Amino acid sequence: RRQLLGLFGAGAAGAAVGAAGGASVATALANASAAGAPDPSRAYAFHGAHQAGITTPAQDRLHFAAFDTDASLDRDGLIGLLTDWTNAAARLTQGLEVEEGGAVGGSDYAPPADTGEAQGLPASGLTITFGFGSGLFGAGDGASDRFGLAARRPPLLEPLPRFQGDALVPELTGGDLCIQACADDPQVAVHAIRNLSRIAFGRATLRWSQLGFGRTSSTSTAQATPRNLFGFKDGTANVKSEEQAAVDEHVWVAASDEPAWLAGGSYLVARRIRMIIENWDRVQLGEQEQLVGRSKGAGAPLSGGTEFTEPDFSAEGPTGAPLIAPTAHVALAHPSANGGTRMLRRGYNFVDGNDALGRLDAGLFFLSYQRSPQQFIDVQRSLAADGLNEYLRHVGSAIFAVPGGIAEGEFVGQALFT
Ligand code: HEM
Repeated sequence: RRQLLGLFGAGAAGAAVGAAGGASVATALANASAAGAPDPSRAYAFHGAHQAGITTPAQDRLHFAAFDTDASLDRDGLIGLLTDWTNAAARLTQGLEVEEGGAVGGSDYAPPADTGEAQGLPASGLTITFGFGSGLFGAGDGASDRFGLAARRPPLLEPLPRFQGDALVPELTGGDLCIQACADDPQVAVHAIRNLSRIAFGRATLRWSQLGFGRTSSTSTAQATPRNLFGFKDGTANVKSEEQAAVDEHVWVAASDEPAWLAGGSYLVARRIRMIIENWDRVQLGEQEQLVGRSKGAGAPLSGGTEFTEPDFSAEGPTGAPLIAPTAHVALAHPSANGGTRMLRRGYNFVDGNDALGRLDAGLFFLSYQRSPQQFIDVQRSLAADGLNEYLRHVGSAIFAVPGGIAEGEFVGQALFT
């Protein structure tokens, strides 16, 4: 683990590096030393053209939270919440405590403004990324549009369709607002969500949240590819921040797209995917590799080469059978099976104890950012034939419109209200 993290670690002591653009990542990596642990004092800028936490080199830890707005919240209240969240996030990401003057703290009789468990801890690469669920935009009947946002609803922000094999649990699904906190220290990520939840008291309530302990993606070519709980390298063919043209084509909502307020933003899909790992662990290595379409050790496509060799789906073995089965995960997820579409994956491993049968409640908390939800829908529909499905259950699901970045003095999502 230390070895992996060291690749984007030490060097830029205390320096705030730019939010999310290719240049800022290049700066971060130029400042990184190839040896040692990640620099805990690494602080990513909160302000910028895009929200941080998307193309930012994926940190090792996650706390993700989805909120429901309280029934009494109105438009001004929502703006107040987003303003308080913005002010707190701008400080937290720089390794500072929540300040007096928000919704909590501020008098001799009030509890402290900051809960305190991150005192003395550095920024640890914390990024805080906010998203808006479809519930913010009214129910479509006009009457329930309490934020006056129905006319600004992104036409593509529809609930995801039901996919084959979905076993969704309502308590792990949906949400009006979301916050993704990623950091290299779990206490820093948890502290951020805890304090932002506390600031929302009386305005928005935590609906569900998810901790992640090991990234299952790389979002920079300088990062080593980590492994998911099936033991396979995950993130090899991901969209990487250095691929500027691919990021622009597949991740950011363009100024020419609808709606204009979402320009520079993205759509975030979250799926809590339970892995039936006890069954998986009884599968022979060769079959595991056939199901994925890559070797377990090196992560190379079964058509040959090394990890970053492009898979050749036409390559055949001595018997004339394709070396990569047409039902392998990478065959069905590959752009060639999906009209060229790609997405930026940013998921995490999770283990949340065990179930009543003594099986680990483990899996992959899948997060993907894309310019249109259709990109996820197309790939997920293609994966209906995926042999891996026997070992997977999608139990949670949500989709959010993630607004673009902001300048100092603005609040997150401000363009939606102007
Ligand atoms: C690739 C595992 C769910 C989309 C991969 C790879 C592995 C993997 C091992 C190959 C390495 C790589 O290129 O990253 C898993 C597991 C999943 C899962 C264990 C569930 C627990 C999903 C879902 C989607 C998805 C839900 C999207 C709907 C992709 C894409 C690729 C990929 C687009 C790259 C394909 C390529 O261009 O070669 N996945 N995946 N995966 N996966 Fe998944």
